[in-house]
Amino acid sequence: MNKLIIANWKSHKNSQEAVTWITEYLQAVGSRQLATVVICPAFPLLSIVEEEIKRAGTQLQLGVQTLSPYPEGSYTGGVTGKNLSGFPIKYAIVGHSERRQYFHETNNDVAKQVDQALEAGITPIICVDKDYITSQAAAIADEVKSKCIVAYEPPGSIGVGEGKDVAAVTEVLTKIKKDFGEVSTMYGGSVSAANVKDYLAVCDGVIVGTDSLDVSKFIELVKAASSIL
Ligand code: PGA
Repeated sequence: MNKLIIANWKSHKNSQEAVTWITEYLQAVGSRQLATVVICPAFPLLSIVEEEIKRAGTQLQLGVQTLSPYPEGSYTGGVTGKNLSGFPIKYAIVGHSERRQYFHETNNDVAKQVDQALEAGITPIICVDKDYITSQAAAIADEVKSKCIVAYEPPGSIGVGEGKDVAAVTEVLTKIKKDFGEVSTMYGGSVSAANVKDYLAVCDGVIVGTDSLDVSKFIELVKAASSIL
């Protein structure tokens, strides 16, 4: 798998801010093929982001931050694989610790989201935490595990400006492979231009929250990542 950089915009940005971000990003990188960047905007921004990234060839791709654990039907507020089917969405983050904390998503919900994503042709990126890897892995059916990417996202390292020690991350990535099998792995938690290379040296990609919001910081991060690809 090519190294992936996920820009997790969370609940930030309106349409105008999204357009400005993409315009500035493309102006800065030009036609240089840098690392593959997947923008995960809030659902209402998908159309505008899709429109803007068409100009970017394969350098920018589209993802979502979650999706409904339920299929098409009477589930008010749920955004399903079918709702997303008109969009070129490659990846869905599922089970982010903020979804588990604020929206009370359980391992069982995450397992259903994985099934819904795969049915829609979307690769799920399952976020896990160190102490719960075994139970989080046990909730996912064995036959679908290899179709998922698994991201180590230590909640204590999210949004604090200091990423987890790389040796500690490597240990957890080994545990992920023990419990999930030979999956691609990612790391997320205060990834920045200063540390991105260290994480990409030990896994297949990174999830970037805070430093994906300011386009200048994100351009520096992608350039730093691209220097080792
Ligand atoms: P952060 O967020 O980069 O702000 O730590 C990462 C994430 O929550 O995915």
